[in-house]
This record gives sequence, structure tokens and C-alpha cells, in this order.
Amino acid sequence: MTTRKIAVIPGDGIGPEGIDAGMSILERVNAASKLGLEFVTFGWNADEYLRTGISMPHGAMEDIRNNYAAVYLGAFGDPRVPDMKHAADILLGMRFQLDLYVNYRPVKLLNERLSPLKAKGTKEIDFVIFRENTEGAYVGMGGFFKKGTAEEIAVQEDVSSRKGVERIIRYAFEFARKTGRPSVCMADKNNVMRYGGDLWLRTFEDVAKEYSEIESFHMFVDALTMQMVRAPEMFGVIVTNNMFGDIVTDLGAALQGGLGVAASGNINPGKVSLFEPIHGSAPKYAGKDVANPFGAILTAAMMLEYLGHQAEADVIEQAVIDAIEANETTHDLGGALGTKAAGEAVGKRLRL
Ligand code: IPM
Ligand code: MN
Repeated sequence: MTTRKIAVIPGDGIGPEGIDAGMSILERVNAASKLGLEFVTFGWNADEYLRTGISMPHGAMEDIRNNYAAVYLGAFGDPRVPDMKHAADILLGMRFQLDLYVNYRPVKLLNERLSPLKAKGTKEIDFVIFRENTEGAYVGMGGFFKKGTAEEIAVQEDVSSRKGVERIIRYAFEFARKTGRPSVCMADKNNVMRYGGDLWLRTFEDVAKEYSEIESFHMFVDALTMQMVRAPEMFGVIVTNNMFGDIVTDLGAALQGGLGVAASGNINPGKVSLFEPIHGSAPKYAGKDVANPFGAILTAAMMLEYLGHQAEADVIEQAVIDAIEANETTHDLGGALGTKAAGEAVGKRLRL
């Protein structure tokens, strides 16, 4: 059996509690199905950064790039590090340096009871958002002029490359083809962002021609937010840029029952990729055994799917669905359990 190494980075706040719950599921599945995964934990977080001044040790990025199949990450963010320097170095550092250009964020309602929308249920709320993950406003290009004066100017660039735009759009169409999703919607703001938006739209139209069996349509991102709430059933796959994707995927998380259940993958196809729940570190809930572990558990399932273990991923997702059905959840989903007990409610339902 070949072993594959998984880097586990619990991070800050409620991150470690979610990862604990996810790891107990992963370890059981790994043993029962003989997946040959070897988990290595890294304690990079705000505590470590404040103690040593180092966010990620020298050589660690190369080690992950060369020796690991995936990264399983909790959350980053700590009020003692207001500029989020460690998070930027580690999370955004991996997105950029490992070229994790696909941010994969499914929006799937797992139980009718969790729908925040009147008359929209599991049939209507089931689509996927692909967020470009290596360009846009996140590249950190820009600067100040006359900083601190009354004439201060700040410039923050929004960067799109043909290569970067084309590969995420192509990934979205390939995904639609592979999974039988009927349509791809590209959202931008090209009525105002005349250059970047123009590049996005031309690229989208070019790529769409190669996937004639899939319906393609364009929407302004402001209209997209409205339609996601008004008529989520109209979407199969959505593709958008880094910043718009950041914003609309929080809305997507709310549609599936809240940030507590949303999973995400930061993917470089065929290479080491990073999986993290969408929720943040929520410092005020840290260590209180109240955070919802389902986001981290569903993220573990997504990681297994990426590693080629679809059957095991499905078993984990079904166990979460069954735990929700039985109302064995944390408070945010209407149950009465703590983080640990909610994780165990999933564990005991694994049909391996
Ligand atoms: C996300 C987060 C990050 C982002 C933050 C923590 C930098 O909001 O993964 O959606 O903006 O991408
Ligand atoms: Mn976000």
C-alpha cells in the first residue's frame, strides 16, 4: 500500500476543535478502508507566531509542495494579530505559492429544515461556485501616496491574466461536463470594470464554445446575489473572480444552513491541494465546545473525494445528513449538542 501524507494545520480559534472532529472521522475511515493516509500535524498559528515571530518555517512550503498530497486546515484569525500577518503568510501564501487556482465551494442544502429561504429546499439549493483563487484584488499590488496626509491616495490593483481567467473558467466547464450540471454562469461587473471584465467575458465566450452541450450565461455580480436568493435553482455552476467569489460564497454558505456547514477546497488539479471549512476562527467561541464541526467534517470528505476516495467521501456526507436528520447537531443547526458530541453523532453513523 502506498502511503500519502496529509498536512494537518488546526490553526486558530475554533479551528482546532473542528479539525479534531474531522480527524477522528478521517482516522476511522482511513483504517477501515485502508486508504494509506499518513497525517502530520503542524502547529502553525497565532500563538506560535506571537511566540517566535515566524508564521511558517523556512522550507515548509517546499516540504508541503514536494512531500504531501493534501493539506487539511482549520481556520486562521486572532485578535492579537490584527493585520492577520500569519494568516496571510500561511493561507494566502499557500494559495499563491502552490498555485491553488481553483477555489471550490459547493452550495448544497443538506436538509429542508436548514433552508433560510421560503419554498426553497434541497432540490433548489444545489449548485457549485468556483472562485478564482490566485489573482484579482488578492495579489496585493498597489500602494499609498502621501500616506497619513489629508491628500492621501491609496491604489489597490485588480489583476486578471488571460491564463488565470481561462484556466478557472475551463475548470468550471469541465466540472459541469463531468458531473452533469446543465449550466455555467460567469459573474463579474464588466459594466463598470471595463478592462478586467472585458477579458473575463471574452475568455468565457471563447471557452463556452468548446462546451456546446452546456448552457452558458453571464450575470453581473450584484444581480447574481439577488438571484442566488430569489431563484437558486437557476444555477448549476457559477464561476467568478477572487473578490466577488469571496463575497458570494459567504452568501452561498448562508443558503446551505450557515457558515458552520460549508466546506471548501483550494485546488491545483493533480497537485497538493488545500481543504478548509469556510467558517473563520470565531475567537469568542474558541475552546467552548460550541462550534459546529460539520464544516470541517464535510471538508474532510471533500479532501477524500479529491484524493480519489469518492465512496468514503459519500459515506461521510451521508453520515452528516443522517445526524442532521436526527437533530443531533450543534445549536446553530437547531440541536443541543456540543462540538465533540456532534462529531460523534456523525462518527457513529458512518456506514463503512
Ligand atoms: C475565505 C476567507 C479569506 C479570504 C480570508 C481569511 C483571507 O475569507 O477563505 O473566504 O478572503 O479569501
Ligand atoms: Mn471569505
